[in-house]
Amino acid sequence: MNVNHLLRKYIEDAVGYTPGGTPLPAAPADIPFCKLNANENMLGPSEKVVAAMSEALKDMHLYPGKETELTRQAIADYHNLPTTKINLGAGSSSLICAIHEIFLNPEDEVVIADPSYVAYRLLANRFGAKLVKIPTKDYACDTKAMLEAINEKTKLVCIVNPNNPTGAKITNEELHHYFDNVPDHVITIVDEAYIDWVDDESFESAVQFVDSHKVIVLRTFSKLFALAGLRFGYSIANEAIAQHLDKFEFNYAPNRLVLKAVRVALEDKDYIARSIANNTQGRNYIYDALCQYDFEVVKSYTSFIYFKPDRDPNQLMLDLNQKGVLLRPFGEFLRVSIGRPEQNEQFVNALKDIMG
Ligand SMILES: Cc1ncc(COP(=O)(O)O)c(C=O)c1O
Repeated sequence: MNVNHLLRKYIEDAVGYTPGGTPLPAAPADIPFCKLNANENMLGPSEKVVAAMSEALKDMHLYPGKETELTRQAIADYHNLPTTKINLGAGSSSLICAIHEIFLNPEDEVVIADPSYVAYRLLANRFGAKLVKIPTKDYACDTKAMLEAINEKTKLVCIVNPNNPTGAKITNEELHHYFDNVPDHVITIVDEAYIDWVDDESFESAVQFVDSHKVIVLRTFSKLFALAGLRFGYSIANEAIAQHLDKFEFNYAPNRLVLKAVRVALEDKDYIARSIANNTQGRNYIYDALCQYDFEVVKSYTSFIYFKPDRDPNQLMLDLNQKGVLLRPFGEFLRVSIGRPEQNEQFVNALKDIMG
């Protein structure tokens, strides 16, 4: 059967998303399988969250109802902002899609960093918009060059800070310079999926620009809270923007279970501290191990490390896979997600064996 002629314009050439990269041959069965390729938080969700969800299961015959507003309120309280600036989504990915759908017309231009989070590379052409890719500078989004790339056709600029897959962040000066200079006809996404892992007290979020600028800040529960499978993210934006994102909520409203989980997760301060500590320790350990080789290793403010090995990255990835460790390749680079201590150790030991 062929339905291509029935498709909306631009869809035939659209490319879908392959989560976690290309599947690799399975590792030997006697070795624990260590999945460090998708920036999942291997600590697993808080026990309190799991218990609350088990309890909530009995209510799954009901639509989310007022659970949505309660959770929206909890997120708003967390940021000390009114609920009118908050939109909830089934993962921040659903909000990324909604933003593209709301704002893009054919011939619009979308400025993204290269490399950056894959969603931003895949979505613009579904709407006939043109992608303008700006190489990263010192592995972070080059916000000055992104500003220079803006013209009268530019509709969206997508800044991922800290950036995925590179792990680097922009400076506060760069953030302020960007918002001091961005023209008024542009909507800026600042995707802060990894903000909770930044171990720099002075790091500034773009939330401060929400009242004065056309910016949408994105956050996710897939990282710090280890709830990637549940699918929950949210946006913070001025009411002028948020009201339009609201129109899409019937498409992506988070389900009743996730809404409950989110409120409990926000309250579980012990888990949050453990989650951050596990990531910081694992990141330092893996960073030090990688630096012992003749690799280019990028300092990370996230839950993964991006590095360029001194040999064929695909061969190294295959060799690691044979030792039960799965990474994600990006051209000449590999990206390893931080896992639990024993998983990080498995990776470091496997690398040591391979490197000889
Ligand atoms: C920068 C960035 N934004 C958004 C997402 C998607 O997050 P979610 O699971 O909330 O859809 C990811 C996932 O890895 C990401 O790296």
